[in-house]
Amino acid sequence: MMMARGGAKVTKSLMTATGPRLFTTATRAMSHEGLSLNHLLKPTVADVSASSWIWNRDPTIGGGVRFASTITLGEKTATPTPTQENQKKTENESTGGDAGGNKGEKGITSYWGVEPNKITKEDGTDWKWNCFRPWETYKADMTIDLKKHHVPTTFLDRLAYWTVKSLRWPTDLFFQRRYGCRAMMLETVAAVPGMVGGMLLHCKSLRRFEQSGGWIKALLEEAENERMHLMTFMEVAKPKWYERALVITVQGVFFNAYFFGYLISPKFAHRMVGYLEEEAIHSYTEFLKELDKGTIENVPAPAIAIDYWRLPADATLRDVVMVVRADEAHHRDVNHFASDIHYQGRELKEAPAPIGYH
Ligand SMILES: [Fe+2]
Ligand SMILES: [Fe+2]
Repeated sequence: MMMARGGAKVTKSLMTATGPRLFTTATRAMSHEGLSLNHLLKPTVADVSASSWIWNRDPTIGGGVRFASTITLGEKTATPTPTQENQKKTENESTGGDAGGNKGEKGITSYWGVEPNKITKEDGTDWKWNCFRPWETYKADMTIDLKKHHVPTTFLDRLAYWTVKSLRWPTDLFFQRRYGCRAMMLETVAAVPGMVGGMLLHCKSLRRFEQSGGWIKALLEEAENERMHLMTFMEVAKPKWYERALVITVQGVFFNAYFFGYLISPKFAHRMVGYLEEEAIHSYTEFLKELDKGTIENVPAPAIAIDYWRLPADATLRDVVMVVRADEAHHRDVNHFASDIHYQGRELKEAPAPIGYH
């Protein structure tokens, strides 16, 4: 109780010292990187009252310009009138509540009055995804070398290589040439290592009071990117009940195995993921061959993929597989690089992480 009172006092005195101006501008500082310092510290009336501005992100390595769009802040009202409530309902429906994994039929009441920002695309239409935002989209680097291979030299390398190779045999047997289904199922596994590695580095950073060199973010970005692969492929291949059961089992085993594997030897863990990604490139190349032969129908690309990879409106499944394969090649390079850092007796934080690039 005493501590809570003390905390409240400190907060109050901080707010008095900094004044409300800092708090009102803080949101803009986080939201708009291009705003000048002068405007952040002394916002004009126009700045404060402006309800929309342009989103711009700097070009990233190889990825090109991320996004440019317009954001409109929702107005907060203490007690919305019936008309406003109807408007809000329509808005929820038009922004695709379901698209973000929400149940769109009924709005969720917020005691705190927190409203999501209204986001529009460059062409003025509503941004319909809640599960990712325009500034998280990108163009895949299609120039990446797909044939690069890390030749295993040490015992650990060979162990990592043959572990992955031995996993391919049951996978080939189970899926055969059903590459859509295979891709979907493998992405449920591929999204685990980045999250586990990122989480462990996060905890290490807290434990040791030290920076991570950006590697927490890099690994979490990888996990999110892999999950988006899954969100894409589940649009073209629906999992059967026994496949869902298999995912639960495999996740339980793989998460724990990778967790302990990373604690014991991060250089082995990253090397193994590097080889897994090499296998993923191979699988997607086979997928492309089947699409070209016509044994798998080259259906239109899922809407989520068109927005996430900024593909043309008439993109097909083949285009999606191409960009996903480029992503896998990037994951391969990041993980072999991370393993190499450990092999040189250094820590990941000593080499700047490749952030903002998939
Ligand atoms: Fe993937
Ligand atoms: Fe990957």
